[in-house]
Amino acid sequence: MDHFNYVDGVLHAEDVPLTRIAAEVGTPVYVYSTATLTRHFQQFQQALAWTDHLVCFAVKSNSNLAVLKLLGNLGAGMDIVSAGEYARAKAAGVPGDRIVFSGVGKTEPEMRMALEGGIRQFNVESEPELELLSRVASSMGVSAPIAVRVNPDVDAKTHEKIATGKSENKFGIPIARARDVYARAASLPGIEVVGIDMHIGSQLTDLEPYRQAYAKMAELTRALRADGHDIRRLDMGGGLGIPYTRDNNAPPLPIEYGQVIRDAVGDLGCEIEIEPGRNISGNAGILLSSVIYLKEGEGRDFLILDAAMNDLIRPAMYSAHHDIVPVAEAAPGVAVAPYDVVGPVCETGDTFEKGVQLPGLSAGDLVALRSAGAYGAVMASEYNSRPLVPEVLVNGDQFAVIRPRPTLEEMLGRDTIPEWL
Ligand SMILES: Cc1ncc(COP(=O)(O)O)c(C=O)c1O
Repeated sequence: MDHFNYVDGVLHAEDVPLTRIAAEVGTPVYVYSTATLTRHFQQFQQALAWTDHLVCFAVKSNSNLAVLKLLGNLGAGMDIVSAGEYARAKAAGVPGDRIVFSGVGKTEPEMRMALEGGIRQFNVESEPELELLSRVASSMGVSAPIAVRVNPDVDAKTHEKIATGKSENKFGIPIARARDVYARAASLPGIEVVGIDMHIGSQLTDLEPYRQAYAKMAELTRALRADGHDIRRLDMGGGLGIPYTRDNNAPPLPIEYGQVIRDAVGDLGCEIEIEPGRNISGNAGILLSSVIYLKEGEGRDFLILDAAMNDLIRPAMYSAHHDIVPVAEAAPGVAVAPYDVVGPVCETGDTFEKGVQLPGLSAGDLVALRSAGAYGAVMASEYNSRPLVPEVLVNGDQFAVIRPRPTLEEMLGRDTIPEWL
C-alpha cells in the first residue's frame, strides 16, 4: 500500500497534487511520501515485535538525508556499504551503535572512520577483510564487533544481477568454511565476534529461499556456540520484494517474513537484525515526469518523456517494470492506446517500457512512474549531461525539496580544465 492516489481526478502524493509539485519544482523529479515510508518501516517493527531487534534500513536503496532522518527518528538503524553512506547515516543523526557496515570491499580508511565514529558491527565478507580489520582496530587500540557474512548457497529466485546468496556470487564466506573463519576471528586481536550475517538477494517474492537460508543460519549458530563463540546477534539481511504493479500477485508481507524468521531462529535467544531497503522505500516514491513529444513512428507511437535512463536506470539495467500512469486520471471508458515510453537519452536502451496502455497524452502532460523510491535517485547519473534529478518529500499537505535540481553552472563547475589547455 502507498499514499499515491487519485483525488478529484488528479494523482496526489498524500494530500499534495502532483501538478503542484511539477509547477513549483519542475520535472523530472522524485517524490517521496512520509506516510508510506513510516508505514513500511512500522510493518517491519511489528513483524519482529516478538523479540529484541533492530530494523536497519538499507541506505543503498535511498540515501537522501531527509529520508534517513525520517527513518532514524522512528528508531531505524542503518545498513551501510561505504564511507559515504556512513557519513550520510551520521549526518542524519543516526548513532553509530545503530549502524551496520556491509559490503565486500571495505577499505582501511572506511574501517577507521567507522571505528572512530562508532559502529554497531562490521559484516565481514572475506578472510583478508577480517585480517585487515584486526590490524586496523588493534592499531587504534579498540575492538571491532563483527558478524561474518555467510554465503548459504541458496537460490533466491530473483534477477541474476541482484542474487547474492549463491556460491558463484562474490558475497560472503562459503558456509562450509564458516567455522574455520570464526575460529580465526576469535584468535585475532581487535576482533569481537558478536553474530552471524546473511543476505541472499533483493526483490525476493517467495519466502522459501529465506526458509532454506535461515535453517542453515540456525544450524550454524548452534555449531558456533558449541565451538565456544558468543553468537548473540543474527543479521538476516534484507531483500523482501515489493509489488511493482498492482495487477499481479503481491509478494509476501513483512509480517509473514517475520514469522519465517521466528520459525527458523526464534528459539535461539538472539537479537535479530534485518536490512530491508526496497520494501521500505520502493513504493514510497514515484518519478514524476512530463511528456515532451508524442512521436508517431511506424506501427508504434513513442511517448518521449523528460525523464530518462540516467534518472531511473532500473528498466535499462534489469529490464525492470514500473507502472506508468497519467497524473490526470483517465475518465472511465476513455480509449487507451499503446505507447513506447522512452526518454531523451541517445540510447535505444533508454526505454522505460514498450506498449504501455495509456489514454491520449500530449506535450506537457504529466505521468508518474510508480515504485521508484528504491534504487531510483541513488542510481541516477548525469549521463548526456543531464543535471541530477531532484527529490521532494511530501508530508500530509506540505512538501519540501530535499535535493534541489543543480543548475547547469553547478554541473559544469565541478570540472576543471588544466592550465596547459
Ligand atoms: C547486504 C545488503 N543488505 C540489504 C540490502 C537491501 O536489499 P533490499 O533493498 O532488497 O531490501 C542489500 C541489497 O542488495 C544488500 O546488499
